[in-house]
Amino acid sequence: MIFLFVTGKILPLPPVGGTRPAPFEPPQGGNAARVRKLSGVLCCSPYYYSVALPVYKTAQHHNMKFFIDTASLDQIKEAKDLGILDGVTTNPSLMAKEGISGDKNVLDHYRAICELVDGDVSAEVIATDFKGMVEEGERLSDLAPNIVVKIPMIKDGIKAMSYFTDRGIRTNCTLVFSAGQAIIAAKAGATYLSPFIGRIDDISWDGVELIKDIAEIYAIQGFDTQILAASIRNAKHIVDSARAGADVVTCPLSAILGLLKHPLTDIGLEQFLADHKKVNELLLK
Ligand code: E4P
Repeated sequence: MIFLFVTGKILPLPPVGGTRPAPFEPPQGGNAARVRKLSGVLCCSPYYYSVALPVYKTAQHHNMKFFIDTASLDQIKEAKDLGILDGVTTNPSLMAKEGISGDKNVLDHYRAICELVDGDVSAEVIATDFKGMVEEGERLSDLAPNIVVKIPMIKDGIKAMSYFTDRGIRTNCTLVFSAGQAIIAAKAGATYLSPFIGRIDDISWDGVELIKDIAEIYAIQGFDTQILAASIRNAKHIVDSARAGADVVTCPLSAILGLLKHPLTDIGLEQFLADHKKVNELLLK
């Protein structure tokens, strides 16, 4: 049997003239990036239809997740009702925006969010020292099984992420603005990595380019950390992040709803309804 080594996984090639022997194991973790790489490498080769395409189709079960970036229970409910919501991210500013203050209220609010959604809920620590982050992170992770402890990209944060990784507690590394930060967070075993693409655009750099860069590095290195495109400002950011290989996008509700909009859809629907009404009014005469 011939084997093909792709981004840290061994994939069996089909025997010449034969059928594919076994279902391919889809790449775990940062799938979008890995599959993008695989398809890119093989799309011009004879193996594209026999290897890359089946792997791509299998991996579609792991397509880009949609998180909402808010602490508002109303907005979380609205996104959940669309049936497309995979999780929630919050941060101290978003909690403050909802007027949530005091330890008990903060914990109660996270509990309420976790009851509302099945998917992962990122809850951010306020402490900036190792001991404080560990204590706070453990308290947060005890709230519900879907809590992911969100930790800032600082030296003690990396120590805390390594500590949580060793204990099977999932983390989201936040405030990421460079590929170097992405590499060290992945080494520390972060479950999610949050590059802030909108804030990078704000300083006239290119946030989506950073997503592409990290996706390529993670694919080459076989890191399992999922790229969670954060600081999304509009629907175009979501589309560009999907193309760049993000595993997750976390978006304000307005950006999610922005995906629905096209003027030709509105014009077309108006025309359909008008034509329907016209012909049915004729019937009544
Ligand atoms: C990430 O998880 C942050 O909560 C968020 O995306 C930051 O977005 P902002 O730049 O719009 O504040």
